[in-house]
Amino acid sequence: MTLKGREVVLGVTGGIAAYKAAEVVSRLRKQGANVHVIMTKSAMEFVQPLTFETLSNNPVVTDTFDRRAPWEVEHISLAQRAEVFVIAPATANMLAKMACGIADDMLSTTLLATKAPVLVAPAMNTGMWTADATQHNMEVLRSRGVQVVGPGAGFLACGDVGSGRMSEPQEIVAAVENILNPKLDMAGLKVMVTAGATRERLDPVRYMTNDSSGKMGFAIAEAAKNRGAQVTVVAGATTAKEPDGVSIVRIESTRDLLAAVTARAPEMDVIIQAAAPADYRFSVQHDQKMKKQSGAAIVLELVENPDVAAAVGQMKKPGQTLVGFAAETENLMENAARKLDKKNLDMIVANDVSRPGAGFNVDTNIATLLTRKGSVECPLQQKAELAQRILDQVLELRK
Ligand code: PMT
Repeated sequence: MTLKGREVVLGVTGGIAAYKAAEVVSRLRKQGANVHVIMTKSAMEFVQPLTFETLSNNPVVTDTFDRRAPWEVEHISLAQRAEVFVIAPATANMLAKMACGIADDMLSTTLLATKAPVLVAPAMNTGMWTADATQHNMEVLRSRGVQVVGPGAGFLACGDVGSGRMSEPQEIVAAVENILNPKLDMAGLKVMVTAGATRERLDPVRYMTNDSSGKMGFAIAEAAKNRGAQVTVVAGATTAKEPDGVSIVRIESTRDLLAAVTARAPEMDVIIQAAAPADYRFSVQHDQKMKKQSGAAIVLELVENPDVAAAVGQMKKPGQTLVGFAAETENLMENAARKLDKKNLDMIVANDVSRPGAGFNVDTNIATLLTRKGSVECPLQQKAELAQRILDQVLELRK
């Protein structure tokens, strides 16, 4: 009964996944939560309020103008009573209304009035989820502290296969538990995470880089911070939103990364290297913009960069846990196992970056967490979820 006596308001909006919200209510109740359901008109096209009334053992609020439940009181009282406000499923329309502060029905009105943490479980067709407008709305909501669970990927009711499937009820309930009873199992630990791409300059306007967005590293940093760790991120070029509440050190090249990471490594308990540092740099960096050579070919020489993870491995202190990543396009596990040893890591996160939904610049990843004791498979999932699995394994290793 991890949620005994806790007050959860669940908003159900109009998508086929509304039927799964019934299981969310049931699981929340089994954990002892007091659940209040608010349904939109379209949600009622998919599931009857009676289902939620029966499962929650509370009246279901459906309409702002229902005279049986005076809305002036109802929407404010539920907004105030909520310890967490969950929207599952959250349609593209609902997310857009939330991003704009539109309050035109009972659910959106109550949501606008609440001061409780808000968790959304988006569910929609892949095209709608990936639409610029929806992604922009998600950015706005995330920047306001709205927490997001999913969506997962898979076979969708519309026949598409892709991202947009509502997270499973147990994942939503786990996210609620995490909000109401945050796991502080990393309290007291100092964690350093590397993220993003390094840039190797050729001249003042040109450089060599890669597609790393920083999403993976930032997700790990955010998760470690939420679990109580004191987090430092050493980041190259990134496009992902920076996590709040962590210290961020910006670097440009692999040699900058080496300096920043090795300077801080001795004081860290856990170091997780998700950055994609360039293995090579130009042997000459020009001070001025290079000019064209009247049609003649230019040969640029590359020299090898230092291996930051290997350097950290060499200076490893007792009690430290070192985690690296292996970004591969072939022979994933053989290459990852070799890097685990060569860089003196405790764990390596092997990701085949040629697989759809894995690797660079996407919100999801597919990975195998390889240690000297065995491996854990992490099928296609949000980087935020993978970050939690990586941290779970780090804590296992530290036992
Ligand atoms: O940032 P995202 O868009 O979310 O993408 C995530 C990711 C694909 C970048 C991430 O999941 C990932 O795989 N990061 C490692 C990328 C990489 O450089 O892999 P690698 O196999 O070349 O390197 C192995 C390990 O050594 C890595 O921990 C890397 O940080 C480190 N390394 C590599 C080269 C180098 N010169 N110094 C290093 O420390």
